[in-house]
Amino acid sequence: MTDRAAPASNAPASRPEAAGASLQHLDALIIGAGFSGMYQLLRLRDHLRLKALVVEAGDGVGGTWYWNRYPGARCDSESHSYSYYFDDDLVREWEWSERYPAQPEILRYLNHVADRYRLRPDIRLNTRVTAARYDASSNRWLVDTDAGERFSVQFLITAVGCLSAANIPDIPGLADFAGRWYHTGEWPHEGVDFTGRRVGLIGTGSTGIQAAPVIAESAAHLTVFQRTANYSMPAHNAPLSEEFKQYVREHVDEIRKVMHATTNGHPFTIAERSALDTPAEQRDALYEAAWQKGGLQFRGTFKDLLTDQAANDTAAEFIKAKIRQIVKDPVKAAVLSDIDHPFAAKRPPIDTDYFETFNRDNVALVDLRASPIVAITPQGIRTKDALHRLDIIVFATGFDALTGALLKIEIEGRDGITLRQAWRAGPRNYLGLQVPGFPNLFTITGPGSPSVLCNLPPQIEQHVDWITACIRHLREHGIARIEPVDEAADTWQREVDAAAKATLLADVKHSWYLGANVPGKPRVFMPYAGGFGRYRDKCEEVARTGYAGFRLER
Ligand SMILES: Cc1cc2nc3c(=O)[nH]c(=O)nc-3n(C[C@H](O)[C@H](O)[C@H](O)COP(=O)(O)OP(=O)(O)OC[C@H]3O[C@@H](n4cnc5c(N)ncnc54)[C@H](O)[C@@H]3O)c2cc1C
Ligand SMILES: NC(=O)c1ccc[n+]([C@@H]2O[C@H](COP(=O)([O-])OP(=O)(O)OC[C@H]3O[C@@H](n4cnc5c(N)ncnc54)[C@H](OP(=O)(O)O)[C@@H]3O)[C@@H](O)[C@H]2O)c1
Repeated sequence: MTDRAAPASNAPASRPEAAGASLQHLDALIIGAGFSGMYQLLRLRDHLRLKALVVEAGDGVGGTWYWNRYPGARCDSESHSYSYYFDDDLVREWEWSERYPAQPEILRYLNHVADRYRLRPDIRLNTRVTAARYDASSNRWLVDTDAGERFSVQFLITAVGCLSAANIPDIPGLADFAGRWYHTGEWPHEGVDFTGRRVGLIGTGSTGIQAAPVIAESAAHLTVFQRTANYSMPAHNAPLSEEFKQYVREHVDEIRKVMHATTNGHPFTIAERSALDTPAEQRDALYEAAWQKGGLQFRGTFKDLLTDQAANDTAAEFIKAKIRQIVKDPVKAAVLSDIDHPFAAKRPPIDTDYFETFNRDNVALVDLRASPIVAITPQGIRTKDALHRLDIIVFATGFDALTGALLKIEIEGRDGITLRQAWRAGPRNYLGLQVPGFPNLFTITGPGSPSVLCNLPPQIEQHVDWITACIRHLREHGIARIEPVDEAADTWQREVDAAAKATLLADVKHSWYLGANVPGKPRVFMPYAGGFGRYRDKCEEVARTGYAGFRLER
């Protein structure tokens, strides 16, 4: 299938002046121009022939890959799966250079998609949606932007990203810091020159673990501030061979099928064997083989790693022993391997020479559990025990995940209830797609969907396809609005909760999956952990049965 024959742009012809802007009428407004928003535009505009527009805060498309330009930024999904699969020709035409390509290449890919499907005329850049209010009398969403524009639309679709609202900790004294500081998710486009600088890096999640080795190469000195020690597996990144590229071109269908059926939407399956039933020697040999292969596939070595603590311990011990082997300084090795949660119960990073970086003379490690940050002073970071003098601070402190970007928008639904009020105790919705009280609002990869537990492109495509089919159904049947009923949302929230509790993921109290990284955020396990394959089946069944659990009104 190809979507190349796009119609001419249907965007409002020109941007009205901010003051006194007139109301612009559209069928659908999509917020965000990353993987999600661009594909949603393509489907609504070219397949349903709707008048649709994307509004994007950044001054380019790409979402995550437009904003996260920090040193070392790469995907940890394998490149051939970190791609759209809606068009076989697109998969075959695009050639990834590496197993885990770096940010500039992924951004090039997303720009290629914008051009190939002529999406740009219907994407309004440099514009942030600030508010959206549902007007029941007209059954329209009234959407305001920071450019002073107002849109009236029947369907409002958020494609704002699960990991797009930067989490900058509120540390006293930051405003007085005499050097420069950056959050990795809002990295300057001109880059940052670390040459001759003393750099402090706060955070040892996927981002910090990618950035540290690259920063250490050019900085005079790097201090890594670690609050929670983390597992990481080697990526063993490398250029893709011609044989592998050929394999991908010839197996598009098979790769898609595997991604759609697996727990995490990755192109590999999880082994059927149990860690505990496997003799120790054989188990370690399998871990060693997975370590040598590298990447997230390590967690697929055994089927019970995320459901059985004793099984998980075997993987955890293997990785901790690797850390102690790699890191030569026994004090650093002890701090780095003192990991207090099960392997892969927080999202496991993959790395290129992360632990090896601590063998460099210019790299120090601060254990924030032993000596917490007290303040930032003009000179640097003061912990309980020392002042660390710094020229640059890098916050690799993650995101207000899953709900952050949504709640930054003043969204007001039926009866004047805001999303913030509706979600005061944590997100509540049906299938992660729609919220009771917010008719015709769809949330791509919303909380309650597999989202961040998945390789995201297949999950995004599944959401976009479901939303598109749903809107087509409404139009074909003369239905004006759709909204989930309360009971369906309550039942789904119980399923989300039960799915998390069936794994070790819900036990990690300092996980961002639970919102624990953002002070004051409700502690609710947000993504659906029951598996992508199962989730797809559920969504398909709901659509097949005439949207059971939703109220459809003419
Ligand atoms: C550094 C990093 C690496 C990652 N690597 C992987 C990986 O290897 N594999 C994987 O599966 N996932 C990965 N992810 C997750 C990644 O976010 C998704 O894979 C994917 O890019 C999400 O696409 P999206 O379009 O849903 O959201 P995003 O790419 O986050 O795009 C959302 C867009 O919405 C815009 N926006 C938000 N609010 C507003 C508003 N109010 N008004 C206007 N515009 C708004 C933002 O500016 C942004 O451009 C990674 C995330 C990060 C941060
Ligand atoms: N493709 C990739 O390889 C890749 C790269 C980057 C990001 N991602 C995606 O994005 C997600 C987020 O990754 P991330 O690394 O940006 O964020 P993260 O996983 O939330 O890690 C943030 C780090 O900052 C620390 N931190 C937060 N607030 C702090 C504070 N006030 N003081 C000290 N330390 C603090 C956290 O410690 P605690 O653990 O104690 O909270 C954690 O070590 C990943 O899990 C992944 O899904 C993927």
